[in-house]
Amino acid sequence: MTVAEKLGQLQQLPWTDETGPGGADAGETERKAREGLLGSVLNLHGARATNALQRIAVEESRLGIPLVFGLDVIHGFWTTFPIPLAAAASFDPGLVRTEAGISAREARSNGVHWTFAPMMDVTREPRWGRIAEGSGEDPYLTAEFAAAKVRGYQGGQGDEGRGDLASRRRLAACAKHFVGYGGAEGGRDYNTVDVSEQRLRNVFLPPFKASVDSGAATVMASFNTLSGVPAHGDAHTLTDILKTEWDFDGVVVSDWTGIAELIPHGFAADGEEAARLALNAGVDMEMTSTLLAEHGEKLVGSGAIPRGRLDDAVARVLRLKFRLGLFEDPYAAGEQEITGPTGKSRAAAREAAARSMVLLKNTGGVLPLARTVGSLALVGPFADSDDLLGAWSFPGAEQRYRSVTVLEAVREALPDAEINHAAGTDAAGEGTEGIAEAVAAAEAAEVTVVVVGEAPALSGEAASRSDLSLPGAQESLIEAIGATGKPYAVVLVNGRPLVLGDWLERAPAVLEAWHGGIEAGNALADVLFGEVAPGGKLPVSFPRDAGQVPVYYSHENTGRPYGKDGKDDKYTSKYLDLPHGPRFPFGHGLSYTRFETGRPRLTPERISASALREGATVEVAVVVRNTGDREGDEVVQLYVHDVAARIVQPVRRLRGFRRVALKADDSTTVRFRLSADDLGFWTNDSAGGFVVEPGRIDVYAGSSSETEAKRSLTIT
Ligand code: IFM
Repeated sequence: MTVAEKLGQLQQLPWTDETGPGGADAGETERKAREGLLGSVLNLHGARATNALQRIAVEESRLGIPLVFGLDVIHGFWTTFPIPLAAAASFDPGLVRTEAGISAREARSNGVHWTFAPMMDVTREPRWGRIAEGSGEDPYLTAEFAAAKVRGYQGGQGDEGRGDLASRRRLAACAKHFVGYGGAEGGRDYNTVDVSEQRLRNVFLPPFKASVDSGAATVMASFNTLSGVPAHGDAHTLTDILKTEWDFDGVVVSDWTGIAELIPHGFAADGEEAARLALNAGVDMEMTSTLLAEHGEKLVGSGAIPRGRLDDAVARVLRLKFRLGLFEDPYAAGEQEITGPTGKSRAAAREAAARSMVLLKNTGGVLPLARTVGSLALVGPFADSDDLLGAWSFPGAEQRYRSVTVLEAVREALPDAEINHAAGTDAAGEGTEGIAEAVAAAEAAEVTVVVVGEAPALSGEAASRSDLSLPGAQESLIEAIGATGKPYAVVLVNGRPLVLGDWLERAPAVLEAWHGGIEAGNALADVLFGEVAPGGKLPVSFPRDAGQVPVYYSHENTGRPYGKDGKDDKYTSKYLDLPHGPRFPFGHGLSYTRFETGRPRLTPERISASALREGATVEVAVVVRNTGDREGDEVVQLYVHDVAARIVQPVRRLRGFRRVALKADDSTTVRFRLSADDLGFWTNDSAGGFVVEPGRIDVYAGSSSETEAKRSLTIT
């Protein structure tokens, strides 16, 4: 290969209105493919369209190297599943494995080989719009979901999973964004991140490690700086940790123009320097900008980019193409193209959406609603919205694959009931004129469901908010419905934790339904009428006020913790004008039935650090009983706290969870195993590394992060 051809393999270009057929730059992408100056294209899909471009690369270029086609298949291709934050609320990683398998089949049959997912940026920033795309605030939960999704896209696990990539049913996964993106200051997208090494390794890196261990074929660099160094130019994370320490032999792709952004970051003086810094730091492929192609020959010629580094990057790209089987079989089989959701994929999406819902509050038993209800009012701007797909849902966002609306689903579920519908207000405006109509609808019905929330455009990339309350006049609508004195339930459809106003105290029932995807309405009807009992839990804390952010369960203690020993002294760490803690904590979620979880039992209760390091484990057994009068799901959660450590440890760290279904009066024993990985932690000191220290570990089990049921483990 010539140097130009090698650099060509490192170039990924987008297919846009400009570069696609009929666009101003039409022909440019084909020309590069023909001249062997292009390795990959993003945002092109469809067997016919991808095959046409592929044919140019394979049949007309000198070396005939196939292109690899990438796309953001984030929570579905045709069949849009709930947003990833919602999926995490299911506390059931099996759901996303299934989802990713379905997405992979749909996308691959449409000529796509590579998805830029899963997103695994741990974040404690509800203001950040991209919170919708990840699994919330916890590294353990995020790692479990990330690994499950990688396996779902790629099949199998580790090397076995990568072997399966050549099948026509799989997609190469991309662990993104490496790393620290969720730590953006102020929750403003793309913003600065400054973290210690221990926080990097204890909080941000674990999901990436789990994904690499599960065989993730690619990794995407993130837009942020990390302690002063833009991630696209950070050799410490891209090369030292990812490629050397973790032995990752896949591709590191830049984010969209991420290499060129080294200039506005103030890290590179010009394009030539940006190209050199990024490639030498460990980026292997450039998305959208073209600086490697423009400056690479000169940089390699002068030795500023070592030839070995260039060859390594090219080898990684070619390895991906070999793993995907593209040299044997570069084309999508048009006759196998999946052209839309199927009954089966819709059923999976419906189940996923229902299992993702979290019952935040249910006083007075308003929910579930009786199927025998004679009249029901459905009000709110999202009651008849078919836009419940959530951020990042193209190509599934085509009109024919929009969400089933709540109104449609309720009408179908209750064909004989009188259903009064009124939007009341729009999703964003301050308009209150429609509220009277909604009140009239509520007054004429036995019970009302108010569907409020955020439009999908308010979360996702470049969609940060400083105000976390319900937009527009939606709170006024809820209050007006409450003032009728008739029973009602509030359903939330949103892509982030919201600040729920004073109306929350008065609302009898509140169900968090998130942006639920293509089957959102049907899934909601399943839960509202008790076909499915809600069993999800919050993957992220809900703040009382945006001024309290970040508020998250796994915080460190101060030297003056609030409420210690039952005291509420002035000189403790708190806000004067807010009750302490979140409105709803991580792990919170109710059911239509009740559960009791017992104190955890440990076997053994004492263990040596050396035994743990050699692979011994501690068994934790927790009995959970359904004490209510109907079946339901509980998520048994396991947390640890190292009470005195050389690096101050969070007051709780999730170390296991299991969602169990129990009939009324049934009980079961859930068993977890705690290993050195669960009980140790990373220090700040690279020589010290990961340590398991002697001392006391409190082991908590229960139904949320606020459980007090514990037993102590002694590490000798
Ligand atoms: O994959 C995405 C990334 O998450 C954000 N910037 C654009 C990429 C490609 O669409």
